[in-house]
Amino acid sequence: MKVFTARDLTQSHILDLKNKGLSIGLVPTMGALHQGHLALVKQAKQHNDIVIVSIFVNPTQFNNSSDLEKYPRTLEDDLKKLQSVNCDLVFTPTTEEMYDANEKAEIFDFDGLDKEMEGKFRDNHFNGVGTIVKKLFNITTPTNAYFGEKDFQQLQIIKKLVEITQQPVNIIGCTIHREADGLAMSSRNTRLSKEHRESAPFIYETLTQAKKLANTSTPSEVEKYVSDKFNNHHNLVLEYFSVANENDLKTATSFSNTQKQRGFIAAFAGEIRLIDNIALYELSN
Ligand code: PAF
Repeated sequence: MKVFTARDLTQSHILDLKNKGLSIGLVPTMGALHQGHLALVKQAKQHNDIVIVSIFVNPTQFNNSSDLEKYPRTLEDDLKKLQSVNCDLVFTPTTEEMYDANEKAEIFDFDGLDKEMEGKFRDNHFNGVGTIVKKLFNITTPTNAYFGEKDFQQLQIIKKLVEITQQPVNIIGCTIHREADGLAMSSRNTRLSKEHRESAPFIYETLTQAKKLANTSTPSEVEKYVSDKFNNHHNLVLEYFSVANENDLKTATSFSNTQKQRGFIAAFAGEIRLIDNIALYELSN
């Protein structure tokens, strides 16, 4: 497994591979890798000749400097995990390699997708994500790029990004990986206190109950149900729960047979912010 920090070297190495007719799968990450990331790598391995994982904690997508500072950084361990799933290349640049001094996030017109849910609480977050993903696509020129559905809003925004930038890459969304108790895998889970880790599966439990309720209720009734559940919880604080359409991420006022809809949630476990979501329709597989 090759490990590169320089973008020029990465770019020229990938160009050589592409000149040999090889397809490239990219899994962009911020490190602190867990089984969910490794599942993305395994999926990418099935469909591409070469799999690249990028590890870069992207400053422009953090709107809270303490969250950026405290974001777990476990490069050595990450590299071992990637070796174990036969990753071919890791691109792990420094901030200076990716950004000029004082460079800010590019501003994109995501057609309102960035104004819903996470966008209401994380100012400029998706411009930061768009900025770094555009740069990573330019450097690695992937055939396919893989993103987890835990960040479903991010996935939809990245699909919009490639529409805007015309970068020739297929965006593949991959199902959420969960711990045995239902908690969605996330790099942030390692920062949960013992007490909050024990409480955190409540988030997915509530989502599954919300899904059942969706058969017989309106979206606002389901939203009230979720908010009441959290109001009665001793150490989890709901930031939002919203029933929204998958395609435009707009809040749904009624359940629909023609629109795919999901329940989206963000909650605080102490100072750790966790997000999750659930499809409110039956998945075919
Ligand atoms: O989902 C993430 O880990 C990040 O937002 C991404 C896509 C790697 C961009 O920094």
